Parts: sequence; structure tokens; C-alpha cells
Amino acid sequence: MGASLGLTVGRSIVSLSYMAINDSSSDVRRPPTVVVTGASSGIGKACALELDRRGWHVYAGVRSEQAARQLSSEASDRLTPLTIDVTDAGQIAAAAETVARGVGDAGLDALINNAGIALSGPVELVPIDAWRRQFEVNVIGHVAVTQAFLPLLRKAPGRVVNISSVNGGLAAPYMAPYSASKFAIEAITDALRIELRGFGIRVAAVEPGPIDTPIWDKSVGVADQMSEDVDPAALALYGDDLNAMRAVVAKSARTASPVQRVVRAVVHALTAERPKTRYFIGMQARMPFKILKMIPDRLRDWLIRKVVGMR
Ligand SMILES: NC(=O)c1ccc[n+]([C@@H]2O[C@H](COP(=O)([O-])OP(=O)(O)OC[C@H]3O[C@@H](n4cnc5c(N)ncnc54)[C@H](OP(=O)(O)O)[C@@H]3O)[C@@H](O)[C@H]2O)c1
Repeated sequence: MGASLGLTVGRSIVSLSYMAINDSSSDVRRPPTVVVTGASSGIGKACALELDRRGWHVYAGVRSEQAARQLSSEASDRLTPLTIDVTDAGQIAAAAETVARGVGDAGLDALINNAGIALSGPVELVPIDAWRRQFEVNVIGHVAVTQAFLPLLRKAPGRVVNISSVNGGLAAPYMAPYSASKFAIEAITDALRIELRGFGIRVAAVEPGPIDTPIWDKSVGVADQMSEDVDPAALALYGDDLNAMRAVVAKSARTASPVQRVVRAVVHALTAERPKTRYFIGMQARMPFKILKMIPDRLRDWLIRKVVGMR
């Protein structure tokens, strides 16, 4: 990632900020460049603003004029809002062209695949269209954006950070659509990390446990709407178990960690000399990947049912 300045943060050496432009005739320095999808709120917004504060040129993916204006009002003049709905091939191509013009021969230093939605409910009752939507946004969208920006990342060479989840290591009951999308992101991240190593492109996954962002309210809203649309008799079959799971989700939302914990991990993944392959945010995130995977399936199922309070 170009010339860098070493700086000690905590126990890690991170390389900071400005890199020499690919212009040998001048001593001009350019800020490192990053594309962040889903930068209108939550983790994406916090990453965009922190990287902007650190001097990066942030291309911030948003889906509305209002979000673009709001983000710009909180950032420096460097920040460039970029219209990207990750399910819209035309918007992705146009965004890649805009960024290509902006970064020129120096290429793109980083891509943060962050955009996401969380759909929940019993496997049996979540409408197939909702399943498709979950995968279009959280999985296919990330792949499409990565494909579009890889030629620019290869030039730098840059880094890719995929925002996965604790649910990428643990399939929670009634969260199968979301969990499945994050398991897919885990697989894609692992393959991509190996495929891109030869190009000097580092790939990392960030695995947050519950984080305090608007995603909780949004997903409860969508779940309530879906519940209204399904056959009440079918829903009643799951009655108490569903309520038990709702209580767990509500508690997770109440005790969620601050978004800055994720931001710190993302900054490390983008700037450390030796970035990690996975960043676990909190004990809750480490457990599914490190401990629960070693437990026999039926014992793990029993534990989950106990913790949730299911029949
Ligand atoms: N919060 C948590 O507890 C948690 C835990 C683990 C992982 N994560 C992951 O972190 C990522 C960010 O979530 P968050 O918690 O920050 O939620 P959030 O505040 O709801 O932010 C989600 C972002 O994704 C954007 N988005 C949704 N659909 C999109 C689409 N089709 N195209 C482009 N952007 C789209 C939203 O834009 P609009 O405003 O336009 O809808 C918003 O900017 C997600 O991948 C999520 O799965 C979150």
C-alpha cells in the first residue's frame, strides 16, 4: 500500500495515511482511498467518518440524496458520496467508473463491503422472495461490488474488508436467512483471501457480535411485517419459541457494543502491516468460531435451546 508511516496504536503497528501519488515527477502526496458500501448509517457510516477524519478519501456508498447530504454535512470536503444500491448492476458500474476517474493509475486502496439487512423468522415461513432479497443484498451484492472494484484494487494493491457477523459462525434458530447469508460471506472471504494473495491484496472478515446500530429496529420492523403476512395458524405453531427468541434478540439489542469497536478493527484491517484474517468483536463473537464449533451438534443444539429458552 505505497509508502507508509509507522505508528503504534495499542499493541499493533499501523501504517498511516498518506501515500505517494504514482507521479514520480512530483512530491505530491495523495490520501489513501476507500469505498464503503452502506455508509448511510451504523457501522458503514462510522467507518466512513473515522477514515475521513484520518485523512482518507472516502467514497461513501449511499442510496438517497438525503443520506448523501447528511453524510457530507458530517465529513470533510474530501468525502465523496457514491450512489450504490448493491443489488443494482448499473449503479455499481457507474460507481466504479466514478472511482476509477478519481483514483487514476494509483488505484483503490480499500473496499469495505458493509451494506446489509437482517431478515429473520422460521425457515418454513419466511417468504421465498424475502430469502432472495436477503441473499441479493448480503451476498450477491458484495460479490458484484467486489468484482467491479477489483481491477482498481489490483493497481494499488488495496485491501478488502468484509463485514460478516457472529452469525457467520453460528446459525441461530429463527435467524436462518441472515445466518445463511453470513455463512456465505465467510466462504467467499476465505476463498477470496487465497485467490487474491498473489496480487498482494489482503482480505479480512470482521465478525461483530451485537453492535448498537439501527439494524435491530429495522429487522424487528421487517419481522413484524412478515408475521402479519403469514398464516396465523402456521405462526402459532412456533408461538412460544418465537417469543423466547424475540426476547433474546431484544436483550442483545439492549446490551449491544458501541460501533467504535468495529471501527477500530476495520482501521486495523486496512492499515496494519500484518492485518488479521478475522477480527472478532467481543466474546460473543469469538465463541461460535472458536468454541461452539468443537462441540458435537446435538449438544450445541441443546445448549442453544437452553440459552434461548425454547421448548
Ligand atoms: N449491528 C449489528 O449488531 C451487526 C452485527 C454483526 C454484523 N453486522 C453487519 O454490519 C453491516 C452493517 O450493519 P449495521 O448494523 O450498521 O446496520 P444499519 O445501520 O442498518 O446499516 C445498514 C447499511 O446497509 C445499507 N443497505 C441496505 N440495503 C442496501 C442495498 N441494497 N444496497 C446498498 N446499501 C444497502 C443501508 O442503507 P439504507 O440506509 O439506504 O437502507 C445502511 O447504510 C451489515 O452487513 C450487518 O449484517 C451488524
